[in-house]
Amino acid sequence: MSYTAKIGPSILNSNLACLGSECIRMLDCGADYLHLDVMDGHFVPNITFGHPVVECLRKHLGQGPFFDMHMMVSRPEQWVKPMAAAGANQYTFHLEATVNAGALIKDIRENGMKVGLAIKPGTTVEELGPWAGQIDMALVMTVEPGFGGQKFMEDMMPKVNWLRTQFPSLDIEVDGGVGPDTIHKCAEAGANMIVSGSAVMKSDDPRSVINLLRNVCVEAIQKRSLDR
Ligand code: DX5
Ligand code: ZN
Repeated sequence: MSYTAKIGPSILNSNLACLGSECIRMLDCGADYLHLDVMDGHFVPNITFGHPVVECLRKHLGQGPFFDMHMMVSRPEQWVKPMAAAGANQYTFHLEATVNAGALIKDIRENGMKVGLAIKPGTTVEELGPWAGQIDMALVMTVEPGFGGQKFMEDMMPKVNWLRTQFPSLDIEVDGGVGPDTIHKCAEAGANMIVSGSAVMKSDDPRSVINLLRNVCVEAIQKRSLDR
């Protein structure tokens, strides 16, 4: 069992006029990585930012923070090189957005980034399965991608559970509606990379929320290792 619990705040619902300082605030509060949501207004009905903003963030924050790019875009192939050049560490694309996942995985690696593969709620986990051996992280969406602050879909947990059983050391991320009320379900199912947007960003005490999310995951990981 080689995975650890990591908490990645999503800055989508932060004060975007102060993106740099919001990221620093999250890192100071103990975030393990930053989950950066890229939307193109085509794959999802919302627009956020692209590689120029990522490049500025990298310059502002230095080399340390790990950037997990959640690419909610059509034709994810076209942004691999620009994102790598901008300083992205992991390129998480949607299985639904590409017809050649194998070639894209190879390209992401050749450009020096880790590979994340995401599925929307309507996509079965069996469709992701054949790629799981070639990726660093599987992202099981727990809302329809596009907006922060939506309700957590508990019926996605069997997907997480299936992945954890089939691929015991894979990093498994959940994203959408995850916070203190829903983290137990995610952790029990086997998720270890936890994206949390509104629950962390809108809290008066983000440090405590991040710690709580991590502690619940750590306990679940320890329990799973004892049960083996
Ligand atoms: C939604 C994004 C999420 C979102 C999470 O499409 O992928 O990362 O910002 O925000 P919450 O935790 O508020 O659902
Ligand atoms: Zn996201």
